[in-house]
Order: sequence, then structure tokens, then C-alpha cells
Amino acid sequence: MKKKSLAKRLFTGLALVGCVTLSSNVYALDRGELMANTCAGCHGPNGVSHGPATPSIAGMSADYFKESMLAYKEGTRPSTIMMRIAKGYSEAEIAQMATYFSAQKFESAPQKTDAKMVSMGQKIHTKYCEKCHSENGSLKEDDSGILAGQWRPYLQYNLHDFIAGGREAPKKMAKKLEEMHAKYGDKGVQQLIEFYSAQETK
Ligand code: HEC
Ligand code: HEC
Repeated sequence: MKKKSLAKRLFTGLALVGCVTLSSNVYALDRGELMANTCAGCHGPNGVSHGPATPSIAGMSADYFKESMLAYKEGTRPSTIMMRIAKGYSEAEIAQMATYFSAQKFESAPQKTDAKMVSMGQKIHTKYCEKCHSENGSLKEDDSGILAGQWRPYLQYNLHDFIAGGREAPKKMAKKLEEMHAKYGDKGVQQLIEFYSAQETK
């Protein structure tokens, strides 16, 4: 057997160190993907939900994902089912799933919408919501969830929860929501929901 030169051995060693550093993120993706299989029954493969009863969770920011799961785990965010599920995961596991789900592509839910309601909703959105839910509620980097193309029932009960006080909205959002509701009432809420439901993300 030919002996490897020192330079060659050094190089192999360095390359290995490089690989280990690079792969830590890939590792989080793999671990996250394994755990995500447990979620697929409800949230669909890769977090794209095929049924209206469960929201899509693909493509939201890792920070928003982590915040949501921790709030469920601590019981500060109301839920029907997620509180029990989130309790089963450590913070580190939640972070690994956040890496996985935020790397998946969001696909808008196929829903029929009413054009007139959508255009009223757009006006309300621009005035009260676009500041923090920009690009019609589709921008991951806003760290405020993805509203554009989300399933209607999920939007519906979340907005209802925010208005009724069951889920605490960030202070500035609560103020905007209150102003909007005082002016447009429940009809305005419906128009907003119609607007987000109609958004198609490619
Ligand atoms: C039995 C069905 C079910 C399973 C399994 C499930 N979820 Fe959920 N998930 C829901 C429902 C329903 C909601 C809406 C909140 C609620 O009512 O609990 C939700 C909401 C969420 C949200 C909030 C979405 C948003 O836009 O803010 C996240 C994040 C989430 N789930 C992550 C997960 C992860 C991660 C797993 C797997 C470890 C998982 N879920 C497993 C049903 C499920
Ligand atoms: C000052 C910034 C701000 C404004 C204005 C704002 N929001 Fe939000 N919104 C947020 C943040 C931040 C979150 C994430 C909430 C959390 O983590 O608890 C959020 C969350 C939401 C959610 C839940 C998303 C999910 O996936 O569960 C809905 C629905 C929503 N906002 C609707 C609206 C509507 C409708 C308006 C306008 C009337 C509005 N927001 C105005 C910052 C804002």
C-alpha cells in the first residue's frame, strides 16, 4: 500500500472538519423531517395541509414556528389539539422541526371566493394589516405567520379568537384590529378572511 503524503493526510483531515461543520444544518433538517412524519397525518405531507380543518405550516419563518409551538407548549396560545402535541417535544426538537418546516414550500389552499368581498377585504387589509403582514400576508420574513392562501376556517377562528380575547394579539395588532372592527364590524372580518383565502402563492 502506498503511504499518503503528509499534505494529503492534512487535506483529508481538514475536509472532514469542513464536512462536520456543514452537516450540522443538514442534520437538523433530517431530524426535523423524521419528526415531521408525526405531523403529516393532520398537516399534510411537508406541512401543506389538504383539508380545511388543519392549517398549512410549510414555509413559515422558523422564528414564528418556534414561538407558536412554545406558546402551545406553555398553554399561552389557545388550541384544540396542539397544546397536547407540543408538550411532547423539547425546545431543541421544536427548533429542528422549525428548520425543516420553514424550508418547505407553502402552497395556497384551493378555495372558492367571492370577488366583491375580496376587493373590499383588500382595501381593509392595505389600511390596517399590510404593515406587518406584507405582500398580502405572504412574506415569511415578517415572522407573523402566513395568511395568504391559508385555509379559511383556520383564519376564521383565529381572527375570532383575537377579537374575543382568547388569543392575545401583539399590542399594535390588537389596536388595528379593534379600530377595523369598530368601523367595519363582523362584515369587515369576513371580507378580510375572503381576501386572504383568495391569495394564490406559486
Ligand atoms: C391531530 C391533528 C394534528 C396533529 C397530529 C398535529 N397538528 Fe398542528 N395543528 C392542528 C390544528 C387543528 C391546529 C390549529 C390549532 C388547534 O386547534 O390546535 C394546528 C396548528 C399548528 C400550528 C400553528 C400554525 C399557525 O399558522 O400558527 C403549528 C406550528 C403546528 N400545528 C405544528 C405542528 C407540528 C410541528 C406537529 C407534529 C409534531 C403537529 N402540528 C401535529 C392539528 C394537528
Ligand atoms: C403591528 C404589526 C401587526 C399588525 C398591524 C397586524 N398584525 Fe396580525 N400578526 C402580527 C404578529 C407579530 C403575529 C404573530 C402573532 C403571535 O406570534 O402571537 C400576527 C398574527 C396574525 C394572525 C395569526 C396567524 C397564524 O398563523 O395563526 C392573523 C390571522 C392576523 N395576524 C391577522 C391580522 C389582521 C387581519 C390584521 C389587520 C386588521 C393584522 N393582523 C394586523 C402582527 C401584526
